[in-house]
Amino acid sequence: MLVKESVRTLLTDTANRASDYLEQLDDMPVLPTEDLRVKVLDFDGPFPDEGMPAEEVIDELDRIGSKVAVASAGPRFFGFVVGGTLPAALAADWLTSTWDQCNYAPVISPLGIELELVAVNWIRELIGLPQSSRGVFVTGATMASFACLAAARHHLLEKLGWDVEEHGIWGAPRLTLVVSDQAHSSVGKSLAMLGLGRGDVIRVPTDDNGAMIADEVPVVDGPAIYCVQVGNVDSGSIDPIAEICGRIRRATSWVHVDGAFGLWASVSPKYQHLLHGHHLADSWAVDAHKWLNVPYDSGVAFVRDPETLFRTFSTSASYLMDDRQKHIMSFLAPQLSRRARSIAVYAALRSLGRKGVIELVENCCRLAKLFADQLSDRGHTILNDVVLNQVLVKLNPERRDQIQEAIDTCAVFWTSNTNWRGDVALRLSLCNWKTTEEDIHRSVAKLDEILTANGC
Ligand SMILES: Cc1ncc(COP(=O)(O)O)c(C=O)c1O
Repeated sequence: MLVKESVRTLLTDTANRASDYLEQLDDMPVLPTEDLRVKVLDFDGPFPDEGMPAEEVIDELDRIGSKVAVASAGPRFFGFVVGGTLPAALAADWLTSTWDQCNYAPVISPLGIELELVAVNWIRELIGLPQSSRGVFVTGATMASFACLAAARHHLLEKLGWDVEEHGIWGAPRLTLVVSDQAHSSVGKSLAMLGLGRGDVIRVPTDDNGAMIADEVPVVDGPAIYCVQVGNVDSGSIDPIAEICGRIRRATSWVHVDGAFGLWASVSPKYQHLLHGHHLADSWAVDAHKWLNVPYDSGVAFVRDPETLFRTFSTSASYLMDDRQKHIMSFLAPQLSRRARSIAVYAALRSLGRKGVIELVENCCRLAKLFADQLSDRGHTILNDVVLNQVLVKLNPERRDQIQEAIDTCAVFWTSNTNWRGDVALRLSLCNWKTTEEDIHRSVAKLDEILTANGC
């Protein structure tokens, strides 16, 4: 059993270890080398009968973990769409674990719930959603889309006299599902989890940059869910939401926006015109763990009419004391017990202020453009219109594996490849608060070397 003094020693020691890690982060190899990677196997073994003092557990984790952890929090990790962690958010996340709040309702965490209300309202205002809408924290954009689409399913079926929470989807009236042929896989996954199926959907064709062609969006007569996107995971393109909303039958439809990272662009006076009409939708999924740079895992589901979220996710049990509660956030979300993600998000927003969020977004977009321009100047082909923070670089398809291997082992930067409109492409995502022009110059030089050596 730990005594008080040793907890302080343990936490101070851990904070020092974390600070040491962060001081080395910008210069360490972005992916661990193979000889370090195999060290994770050292954790394996039979479950021990005897425990180990906490200081030794942390020492073991730090000795191995700090060497093997992928430097995805660092400034030259351009893979997937992964932000880093702002200092205020990291420190607040430590406090979150220290306080161990359960964001069910004010009865168990007045602190966490108040910060959740504040943080989601700030985000709502920042990204320009309607005043009436309400947000709730979930684990990420996949679960945010799941929650929003569950609310859509509830709303449309309720209007047809079907209680889906009670009777399930067996025998329910059919809903028409419309998605883009570039919809993120998490939308299909959410539809699958909701029993609506990912296969039986109308796929709308997209333009060269991956945005839905509004004229091709079907005008459905019956109840329909339209899933649109702000920020294509490869190209960053944005669907023409105003045009789509103006075209379809709004009285019988629900429009959901997957804006995992792209919705943050609406904070910027420079980029918000690209999202024209995004506020006309019924629900929105956005991540905090991507462009806002808070620790995993953290996303927000926003719904125009919060009552639909409540009717979808509320539950009841005598021990939950629900009749005495206001603001039971777990009645707006899939989970009952919830980590107080609001605390790190509040800290990130409080430390940045509006100006800081705008700067973060605009800087990443500027660096993405710089990356693209520098590669282009060196003769490489950029496949997308760099509208936000995503860059696609054409690869020699015959050298795909060799290029990836060279990137995996180059230590300077990291990213992965994708298929784009019949080409093989390297995808670069700029969403880390730490990335500087110098990081772009270093990465471009290394990437140019790799691409040139591989016939690109
Ligand atoms: C457009 C889009 N939607 C959804 C997701 C899934 O987000 P999460 O991993 O937070 O569930 C991503 C992830 O990159 C994304 O880019």
